[in-house]
Amino acid sequence: MTIAFRSGLAACDHYIEALYDSVRGMSSRFAATITCHLMRRQSDMGINGPIAEIGTFEGRFFIALAHALQAGEKALAIDLFNWPNDGLLDLFRQHLARCGIDEAGIVIHKGASDELSPADIRAKLGSEAGLRLFHIDGEHSREAITRDLDLAHAVMHAQGLIILDDMLHPGYPLLVIAVHDWLQRHPDMKVLAIIDREDIVAAAKFVLCRADAVSLYEDDLMASFPAQHFVLGAEFESYFCVVLTPKPRLAEVD
Ligand SMILES: C[S@@+](CC[C@H](N)C(=O)[O-])C[C@H]1O[C@@H](n2cnc3c(N)ncnc32)[C@H](O)[C@@H]1O
Repeated sequence: MTIAFRSGLAACDHYIEALYDSVRGMSSRFAATITCHLMRRQSDMGINGPIAEIGTFEGRFFIALAHALQAGEKALAIDLFNWPNDGLLDLFRQHLARCGIDEAGIVIHKGASDELSPADIRAKLGSEAGLRLFHIDGEHSREAITRDLDLAHAVMHAQGLIILDDMLHPGYPLLVIAVHDWLQRHPDMKVLAIIDREDIVAAAKFVLCRADAVSLYEDDLMASFPAQHFVLGAEFESYFCVVLTPKPRLAEVD
């Protein structure tokens, strides 16, 4: 699939255009492009820090994000790295090298995310700095996503982003309930945007941030991706959030 818009970061856009399909995975080009744009926006605003992903698999989405890092920033890849077989970690490393990511800036944790405490994450990254972005795409049970959200929330930069994969996915209909419950317990956090699906294996993502950070990103997203903006937004009862979709339209009625 060719997409008609860019993140504005040359290394990310080249990877997404030329190499994305050569790394097997389940995140969309659409979401990768918008997320890299969000990281560019962070860098422009001086929001710096490491990033992490739970559920790296072969590294499809992770490599896009790693290309958006600033000098000295690290990325932590967390995965069991055992499916479909134990060759997955080697394959991930090969993809990093082939796609131009220096492993010196990458930290790998082979194991379950529930083995890690916030202190472990900071120790692995060698930094007390808050994480500016945390992508959660590991175990898809309500318990696991709640735990992963707690972990990401505990280590995030005050103006950072948490991105959740497979939201509203027909195969995981209860995940969004866990997210809603978690948000009810964390009124400091909001859904900033929904990045709609490309396909059933390239599903929608929610982008979360602190309520007081929404304005840093919201107008910029709508202005940067006007042709992808579903102007009605998403209704969360007390607020609306941005919706970006590959083909915005309304149902035609006579
Ligand atoms: C859907 S794949 C991730 C796809 C990848 N993020 C992408 O965009 O292409 C899910 C991954 O989560 C990993 N995983 C499942 N449970 C996990 C857990 N408890 N901790 C860490 N990783 C886990 C699996 O090993 C698998 O590689």
